Amino acid sequence: MIISENDIKLMRPFKFRIPHEVIFESGCSFLAPEKALQLGSKRPLFITGSKMAKSKNLAALMERSSELGMNPGHWDNVEPEPPVELLEAAAKEIRKGSYDCLIALGGGSSMDFAKMAAVMAENPDIKVSDMVGSEKIPRKGLPTIMIPTTSGSGSEVSAVAVFSFTEENMKKGISSRFLVSDIALVDPKLTLDLPPHITAASGMDALVHGVESFLSLGTNQLTQDLALIAISNIYANLAECVLNGSNLNAREAQSYGSMVAGMAFSMSGTAGVHAMAYPLGGKYHVPHGEANTALLRWVMEYSIEGCEEKFIPIAKAMGVPVNGMSACEAARAALQAIVELGEKIGVKTRLREFGIPKEAASEMAEAALKEVRLMSNNPRPLDFAAVKKIYENAW
Ligand SMILES: [Fe+2]
Repeated sequence: MIISENDIKLMRPFKFRIPHEVIFESGCSFLAPEKALQLGSKRPLFITGSKMAKSKNLAALMERSSELGMNPGHWDNVEPEPPVELLEAAAKEIRKGSYDCLIALGGGSSMDFAKMAAVMAENPDIKVSDMVGSEKIPRKGLPTIMIPTTSGSGSEVSAVAVFSFTEENMKKGISSRFLVSDIALVDPKLTLDLPPHITAASGMDALVHGVESFLSLGTNQLTQDLALIAISNIYANLAECVLNGSNLNAREAQSYGSMVAGMAFSMSGTAGVHAMAYPLGGKYHVPHGEANTALLRWVMEYSIEGCEEKFIPIAKAMGVPVNGMSACEAARAALQAIVELGEKIGVKTRLREFGIPKEAASEMAEAALKEVRLMSNNPRPLDFAAVKKIYENAW
């Protein structure tokens, strides 16, 4: 297609920031020590959660780092939905140990943690709370390498990290060009052993990234192109990844979809589903993917009104037949397909299943509306009454 001058003027501007190097290949995670060396590292620090600390992959990467003449260390204290206090402890440790490169091996929590700890290690004078929001990080941090072991967060390529602010019982996001990692090593083989429930929840998170970035008021042409590729790959492969986790073809397609969704939302931001998921994670410690999945149907049902046409490309990307349907019917068919996928892979769909009381809707609505960065992206405006009603519907 030839783009005319008029078309160019009509396109929304965008900034696309991804790591300097993205390698996508089964087995490529073992390149991490070489890549750290290329970044000039002598003392890399591997960042993991406690379970990953015992993995053979980590042991092999540490050993290889030593063989290459580096003196690696290991921080294994990353908690799910990491609290900011832990970041401060890690930053101190990094400075004390003179680490010069952080390598995250894990899911979204470990990757977000490493990206932000790298920033804090180089910005000791600034509090995390002062960096919440968009582009509030003043300086680049230490070099980082991301090795995702789940297919969901897209953190390996995104400019975003999310943390729990325990005093406020709230999760908050930080978005900055300095949160883009230097190198992403996407190795779908690492996801082969993921248990079905984690595959399902993290996979639905990636699907939500695709859907929300496509619908976001902050979207642009490149985001939309990437989002549809992501939705198509994830919708076609997620159930197979959950039901037959050893299928490497499906795992590769899911890893690809998740990575591309990360690129998409990193530009546009996510929207109402993520904003409303934050209080579920912050106060009730519902894992991120599960919180998104439980809310997706209800936020989308609300958002369809007035935005029906926007759902048609999503339906087509999922292969849902929409010929002869009105825009409204096509939008509902797309939503129904997503709901059925969630049911098929066994994710929880009701807030009461997480022990959240119905009366919490008001308090959660107040908290979610503070997520202005994401709320303002929703294709249909959300106010207190609408958000409260969505929580009640989801209960
Ligand atoms: Fe997410």
